[in-house]
Amino acid sequence: MSEPGTPPVIGVIGGSGVYDIEGLENAEWITVDSPFGMPSDQLLTGELDGQKVVFLPRHGRGHPLPPSRLNFRANIDALKRAGVTEILSVSAVGSLKEELTPGTFVLCDQFIDRTVERERSFFDTGLTAHVSLADPTCTRLMDVLQDSAAAEGIPIHRGGTYLCIEGPQFSTRAESELFRSWGCDVIGMTNMPEARLAREAELCYTTIAMVTDYDCWHDDHDNVSVDAVIKVLLANADKARGLVRRAVPALAGRQQSCPRGCQHALDNAIITQPHA
Ligand code: ADE
Repeated sequence: MSEPGTPPVIGVIGGSGVYDIEGLENAEWITVDSPFGMPSDQLLTGELDGQKVVFLPRHGRGHPLPPSRLNFRANIDALKRAGVTEILSVSAVGSLKEELTPGTFVLCDQFIDRTVERERSFFDTGLTAHVSLADPTCTRLMDVLQDSAAAEGIPIHRGGTYLCIEGPQFSTRAESELFRSWGCDVIGMTNMPEARLAREAELCYTTIAMVTDYDCWHDDHDNVSVDAVIKVLLANADKARGLVRRAVPALAGRQQSCPRGCQHALDNAIITQPHA
């Protein structure tokens, strides 16, 4: 748990197309070891307007790591060891709703996890904990991002359900239609178990999803392809950087632990009896 008075350190996890942060003062790539294995890459530390930032390229620099090979536990653990208290998770996603057009930003606040081969908990042996995931994202971070997007003139949609698939293949049309029938808003391959682990690590977490395509359900749009994703990403990467650049200083100055309780997620979650 972060002690009251622990100054905020903003972690940024960059998804496809976002491999660094511009304008970082005192920027330095550092190696952080984790007992859970190797994180995706070194961490880039520095400051934005005096606020400490730690950046991790989720797929590694150059994008060598596919979603199923990401060591999510090592990534979250390394960020925590580097002092991170809150995480802005930037990700490319497909749209499952007509109105979420490519180029739209979505602050997702719910997830459905369809991944099948990922380590999803820090509490898998010796110590049993059941944290709440009812509200998996931090509304305080979302407030700041919403205001920052407005100040940057970036249209942003607040709220939405992120359907996470294992990948690396995109979905079949039947799957895409199924996820739409469930009311999901966007589809991606990486925010689960990332969000679960951030909660177990008592870190505030929010997803900034950048819509790049209409997956494969839309009659008037081509089926998703890497080319199409990259094209939209490149056109929007500057907006994502501008949003992070504005949000980070706005998150500075918090004196107490998160008033929404993210940093106390384990308070009533551990069921294992202490040794007598
Ligand atoms: N990332 C970007 N677009 C996607 C899609 N349609 N499905 C899964 N992940 C994505």
